[in-house]
Amino acid sequence: MIESRHLTKRYGEKTAVDRLDFTVKPGGVAGFLGPNGAGKSTTMRLILGLDAPTGGTAHINGRRYAQYAAPLQEVGALLEAKSVHPGRSAFAHLMGLAYTHGIPRRRVEEVIELTGLQAVAQKRAGAFSLGMGQRLGIAAALLGDPATIILDEPVNGLDPEGVRWIRDLLTSLAAEGRTVFVSSHLMSEVAQVADHLIIIGRGRLLADTTVHDLIRQAGGDRVKVAGADPARLRELLAGPGVAITDRTGSEELEVTGLPAREIGSRAAAAGIALYELTPVPVSLEQAFMDLTSDAVEYHGSTPLARTAAGADDQAAKNGSTA
Ligand SMILES: Nc1ncnc2c1ncn2[C@@H]1O[C@H](COP(=O)(O)OP(=O)(O)O)[C@@H](O)[C@H]1O
Ligand SMILES: [Mg+2]
Repeated sequence: MIESRHLTKRYGEKTAVDRLDFTVKPGGVAGFLGPNGAGKSTTMRLILGLDAPTGGTAHINGRRYAQYAAPLQEVGALLEAKSVHPGRSAFAHLMGLAYTHGIPRRRVEEVIELTGLQAVAQKRAGAFSLGMGQRLGIAAALLGDPATIILDEPVNGLDPEGVRWIRDLLTSLAAEGRTVFVSSHLMSEVAQVADHLIIIGRGRLLADTTVHDLIRQAGGDRVKVAGADPARLRELLAGPGVAITDRTGSEELEVTGLPAREIGSRAAAAGIALYELTPVPVSLEQAFMDLTSDAVEYHGSTPLARTAAGADDQAAKNGSTA
């Protein structure tokens, strides 16, 4: 269990982490989401005691990281920055870590196998590809068989096979009852593996939710409609709270604010044949962008015209802590 209470980190004028409250429970994967610069890495560094909070607390199973005598056996972490001596082999690197915690050679061999590093275990880590480096980082994180696993953007730079491998690994670690906390700036990466989502923007908590609730909240009520008389359909469906868009020269309408059932009934009552009546799946990515761009509304510019990443750049320029 990871508990963040009013966690705050300021760097001079900049508030990187702003009174963050959240709890990550064991037995599931929690996705930690936010655009670049949102404060994800800083939060993880605070949890791992690599940086001191300006205020608030971060506890892992009831204690601060620094209070653990053998932290590798409590918490396994992979942060963005790689910290492997380039001249050392993967095996030597892991053995070095193992020695500091009385972890047997057998466990080193186990994590090498678990992460698919057998073929390159004796090679210099400095020559590793990004994907191999990530696997080595994860091997190190799992070395102490920890109950809590914290990974910062683990799929960055991985090929599709590597992405799937991490996804399966995280799922099985959670199924073993561990606490798994994984960050990403891409909703698509996280939504497939996490049930719990903690979304931040400019250091602040924007949502503590589940994939299911986020989809529901995002209002999955867009419906694609094609029919014999699009102009007449338009009239039939128009009303308060209903938005209709059409593509010129097409018989297709996109309707927001009316359930498919109601659209079908109205068309039938008017004797208009429908060729298509398809609810459009909600884009989680869009829901995420909407959430994170809202965080910069304070600046008085139109959030719609800006991407989440662009908004963050703007926030950085303004140097605001709103
Ligand atoms: N050591 C530091 N000194 C000053 N500012 C920092 C430092 N670390 C992070 N920041 C700033 O804090 C904010 C959050 O950064 P970070 O935690 O790396 O975000 P994320 O991981 O979500 O991309 C950014 O604006 C970043 O520039
Ligand atoms: Mg980061």
